[in-house]
Amino acid sequence: MIELMGEWRRTHHCAQLRKEDIGESIILMGWVDVRRDHGGVIFIDLRDREGVTQVVFNPQHSEQLHKKAHTLKSEYVIAVKGSVVPRPAETQNQKLPTGDIEIKAEELRILNESKTPPFVIQDQVDATEEVRLKYRYLDLRRRPMVKNLKLRSEVCIAIRKFLAEKGFFEVETPALAKSTPEGARDFLVPSRLLPGEFYALPQSPQLFKQILMVSGIEKYFQIARCFRDEDLRADRQPEFTQVDIEMSFVTEEDIYLLMEQMAGRIFREALGQEIPVPFQRITHSDAMEKYGVDKPDLRFGIELCDLTSALKGTGFKVFREIIEGGGAVKGINVAGGAKFSLKEIEEIIAVATGLGAKGLAWIKIEDSGPASSIVKFFSKEELGAMQQAMSAKPGDILFFVADKRKLVNEVLGSLRIEMAKKTGLIKPGFKFVWVVDFPLFEWNEEEKRVQPTHHPFASPAEEDIDKLLSIQYPVSSVQQLLELKGRAYDLVLNGVEIGSGNIRNHRIDVQRAIFKILGISEESAGKKFGFFLEALEYGAPPHGGIAPGLDRLVMLMAGEESIRDVIAFPKTATGTCPLTGAPSEVDEKQLKELHIKKA
Ligand code: AMO
Ligand code: AMP
Repeated sequence: MIELMGEWRRTHHCAQLRKEDIGESIILMGWVDVRRDHGGVIFIDLRDREGVTQVVFNPQHSEQLHKKAHTLKSEYVIAVKGSVVPRPAETQNQKLPTGDIEIKAEELRILNESKTPPFVIQDQVDATEEVRLKYRYLDLRRRPMVKNLKLRSEVCIAIRKFLAEKGFFEVETPALAKSTPEGARDFLVPSRLLPGEFYALPQSPQLFKQILMVSGIEKYFQIARCFRDEDLRADRQPEFTQVDIEMSFVTEEDIYLLMEQMAGRIFREALGQEIPVPFQRITHSDAMEKYGVDKPDLRFGIELCDLTSALKGTGFKVFREIIEGGGAVKGINVAGGAKFSLKEIEEIIAVATGLGAKGLAWIKIEDSGPASSIVKFFSKEELGAMQQAMSAKPGDILFFVADKRKLVNEVLGSLRIEMAKKTGLIKPGFKFVWVVDFPLFEWNEEEKRVQPTHHPFASPAEEDIDKLLSIQYPVSSVQQLLELKGRAYDLVLNGVEIGSGNIRNHRIDVQRAIFKILGISEESAGKKFGFFLEALEYGAPPHGGIAPGLDRLVMLMAGEESIRDVIAFPKTATGTCPLTGAPSEVDEKQLKELHIKKA
């Protein structure tokens, strides 16, 4: 039977009571975590958001109350009036903050009943993610999830306090917006009032924040929801949150400093940890060459070593032909890997070929020297040069990939992470790094065109502005474009890109020149960004910014593998919400109103 809360009020939460409270009369409210019946005595672990307190119903104190407690099941919502008593010495639980005491129940009110939950509410859950998301309200009762939501809240509060102190205005920008080009597909919203016209949900507030700089706001931030219709991965969601930031009259250094201070504040306030500043910086080209990716995990070494020139003309045909064809040969040294069994090596080769490599050559360094079926193809000098370049010592294993440079970097960039995991090189901790000096453009091999490394609003380096403006059409050399330096930067944490930004084009001539290079005609630029280009003509100040991804940052801080675990109501990999059933079909009438179906 369900009872009223009546005049009862909670006196404490379920993680609050200690030895010092012994003798107090209290009222706790929460959920029945577990009920245990021991030798006629009923023990209830009573749970709320903060924790758990043990409540005891002893038939010797009240038979009627004990009988009532017998009806309690998991997830019933109850209120207990009782007194705080010490636990018998042998039953104290050091793992629980309330483990020294228990509640001797004097009265019980059953505030609500519960169906049997589809999974047990405990730290480790064996339900599939689909089931967890369908019953997200139950999943969020679990302690790790409460902890994640609390952390996320603390991070947001620390950010708001920090940026407010630094003089930033928090400004909201529209969700019903016009398409902005962050490179993903837009989610569209049909207009009822204007048949055939659509809003786009913003991929980021990029153009609005730049316009706010034209407005003279100077320092803007927003904890902004962004929408991108792209294929999902563990660190991607169709809607996600950015800490969107923009400032006027700044250079890269101002943004770096602000972010380092902000990260310092976040980690201090939310995790109680000091993080070393300033963050290490690495150029984009060094990151690609040494770590194979533009988001290097610098918690461990295993750098990629370029052997292309050392192995030119080698007797190992596979490598020689690839080098002659303009490709590259690079390798990594996995310390201690000489003990890998052939089966383990086969598995590693499978990882490499899974990543697109045509093969993975290897050499073990044994006490007697290099050992592998391919050793015989190399000259003594080549073997010596390889070992020296890779600092190889007995006990190591060297892996090599030969292919187009881009693929070599991709494969070895991933393999180095796999090898670090396999050999236990990744220590817990946080390693931030700025990736700087991005080129302005990069080559898109599939589409055979240049594209911005970040987005079309990023500025070239000041010294390259004249070069950009003097480009003649038709462009005779793509190389000339790829050599232009940009003013973009990424913030990387433990191998995850957590933020991206750049100094923008505040000059309309520079912005127009970039559109032209990207093949965006004046007409098309006018149609898509006319409003923005016009704004640039009314005294746009030099400005720049950045947008850390909040979900990814909190994921890493929480030690989670997926951003879904730090989002209250995330989508599945196919973009669905198992809780609400979105996306779903809508009424015929709605479609007609929106002019999507003929009336
Ligand atoms: P960018 O597109 O690089 O830059 O996004 C910035 C940061 O947002 C996070 N992020 C995502 N997080 C979860 N799911 C996604 N689908 C997703 N996509 C991006 C990443 C990324 O580093 N307007 C520019 C920023 C600027 O130039 O100021 C922008 O949106 O952590
Ligand atoms: P094969 O001559 O194809 O039998 O290859 C000899 C060795 O070289 C095998 O161990 C292959 O895995 C390796 N191998 C083949 N192609 C490549 C490549 N592109 N890069 C690195 N190793 C390769």
